[in-house]
Amino acid sequence: MDHQEMRQAIRTASDFRTAVRVYSEQQLAREDVELLLDIAHQSPSSVGLEGWRFIAIDNHKLDSQLKDALKAVSWGAIPQFETASHFIFLVAEKNARYDSESMRQSLVRRGLTSEADLSSRLALYKAFQTRDMAMADDERALFDWTAKQTYIVLGNVMTCAALLGIDSCPIEGFHQEEVNRLLTEAGIIDQNKEGLVTMLSLGYRLRDPKHPKTRKPREEVISWLTD
Ligand SMILES: Cc1cc2nc3c(=O)[nH]c(=O)nc-3n(C[C@H](O)[C@H](O)[C@H](O)COP(=O)(O)O)c2cc1C
Repeated sequence: MDHQEMRQAIRTASDFRTAVRVYSEQQLAREDVELLLDIAHQSPSSVGLEGWRFIAIDNHKLDSQLKDALKAVSWGAIPQFETASHFIFLVAEKNARYDSESMRQSLVRRGLTSEADLSSRLALYKAFQTRDMAMADDERALFDWTAKQTYIVLGNVMTCAALLGIDSCPIEGFHQEEVNRLLTEAGIIDQNKEGLVTMLSLGYRLRDPKHPKTRKPREEVISWLTD
């Protein structure tokens, strides 16, 4: 594929991608799901923290009692739970503070091993989280920080899915407390340490959308500072 064809493929995928809520019976190939999970895994995160987990679910194999319980508190996911081929649940870490073990481990993963190097880098992160982001002593702000980063994954996965002709729908329409409690009771997450940010449903559209995609005029949201 030359550069021009690549541009066209990206435009075609962008036009194709729309939030699809009702899916056909066609299942995703396992290899495609694994590729999308690899895209999630390779996504960037602030300070390389990777304060997240991605839980893949074959919707047809999801325990029906759990599915019903989730559906009851997920107004934005009802047709998706009924018809999607797969889900990816995007989970973010809680309390990823400069002095947490996961922050330290992110540095170790990136090759910082001496105590002196670790301390000076963690001091920088302390300033970043305390002075710059004003979040170090606010559990909600710390969760929002890791949660925000999972939206990068969401975008990457949806775009790559669209390139493969796979439909998706990001889902925030659920009762956070209830869903996190259900997932914790089922042993899927530990709500003391992490929380579900979004669900992403995946599958193949049953029919084309009723309405064409609408967007604000391009010039309203895009401008060049330098032209
Ligand atoms: C963060 C986020 C959360 C969303 N939550 C839901 C949801 O709970 N249920 C749903 O059916 N659609 C949900 N959507 C889909 C949006 O309604 C949809 O993307 C938007 O209307 C634009 O339409 P388009 O995706 O077809 O371009 C969500 C989208 C985003 C980005």
